[in-house]
Amino acid sequence: MTVVVDSGELVTVLRDRFDDGTDSRTGPITVASAPGRVNLVGGHTDYNEGFVLPVAVGRRVTVAARPHSDPRVRVHSRDFGERDEFDLGRIERRDGSHWSNYVRGVARELGTAVESDRSLGGADLVVEGTVPMGAGLGSSAAFELAVGAALAAASDFDVDRRTLVRICRAAENDFVGVDCGIMDQFVAAFGEADAALFLDCRDETFETIPIAGDVRIVVTDTNVRHDLVDSAYNERRRECERGVAALDECLDRKITALRDVTAEDLDRCEDTLDETVRRRVEHVVTENERVGAAAAALERGDLARVGDLMHESHASLRDRYGVSCDELDAVVEIADETDGVYGSRMTGAGFGGSVVSLVKPAVVDRFERVVTAEYEKRFGIEADVYSCEADEGVRIRQWGD
Ligand code: GLA
Repeated sequence: MTVVVDSGELVTVLRDRFDDGTDSRTGPITVASAPGRVNLVGGHTDYNEGFVLPVAVGRRVTVAARPHSDPRVRVHSRDFGERDEFDLGRIERRDGSHWSNYVRGVARELGTAVESDRSLGGADLVVEGTVPMGAGLGSSAAFELAVGAALAAASDFDVDRRTLVRICRAAENDFVGVDCGIMDQFVAAFGEADAALFLDCRDETFETIPIAGDVRIVVTDTNVRHDLVDSAYNERRRECERGVAALDECLDRKITALRDVTAEDLDRCEDTLDETVRRRVEHVVTENERVGAAAAALERGDLARVGDLMHESHASLRDRYGVSCDELDAVVEIADETDGVYGSRMTGAGFGGSVVSLVKPAVVDRFERVVTAEYEKRFGIEADVYSCEADEGVRIRQWGD
């Protein structure tokens, strides 16, 4: 099911919210949108400069933007029913994890990163999305990419997709303060319909692998959200850094990221690592291998093999990396016991959020019934289950005014 925001309605809201009789408008309306994502295999490998296999999905964040002559951004979020306004000459963080910090961060990075003889111009924006927030589906990156593309277009800045990815990631790392890797922004920019991206997070090269055959991508949102995601995420990053330092010392070649470590290296040096770090490293090393194997299997249409690798990936994230939770494990277990399912795993940072499954089309309805009923029986929580199409990355169009 593709869930779309009605762009015409968004444009109407933009006019209603911001037409104040003064005619400071300076250009046409732009509508930009960017997708959320699932990741088939490759959990917590991106910031270790490893490999991932994400798919952009047909749930998107959409932004309508209109330039004006004041050097200010005014933005209305339809999802939050709130408005924010800031001066482009002095962009500061709002306290707490306010949604507007994403807009502010992207505006700030865009203003400094783009080489132009003009500065970023003011604009009015309306934002709405169909990517569930906090569900591990890359909603922040989709938000950043859509806002970045819209603001750039409103200022007539020619920003290529790689630059946009860099700007949005910097906004999240340096302004919002979340130390994420490159995966979500990258796939929100470069995703393709009916395909997965096999991405090397070190040099940012990628291959597009068509998703062919008898399959649907099904997301099960556990509707569990844990506050500890950000702190646990940063803790995992520090553990990986400790692993890099110890292995660099132990091995007779330079190690700058866990991407450089092989299974043989780990065997040789495991005594130099404490137990927690050893398990984290083991996850990353084996997960990178699984991504390569899954990409090859997807390429030859061997969905059963992709499914097995998803299953192994989940077990490794649960047992070695320690980022799953009972609800995610239960959904994976229930899904695995259901006929017609190739495989399932948690997707995103973990500690709640969603499970992605590859399911035969004929059994999707039954899958939804079985998973929701059994999950509710175990946890008393209603899960949201839906099919997604692999969709294209960021896109923009001029609305005309
Ligand atoms: C979050 C981050 C990504 C990635 C995943 C885990 O989604 O934003 O960069 O690290 O977690 O694979």
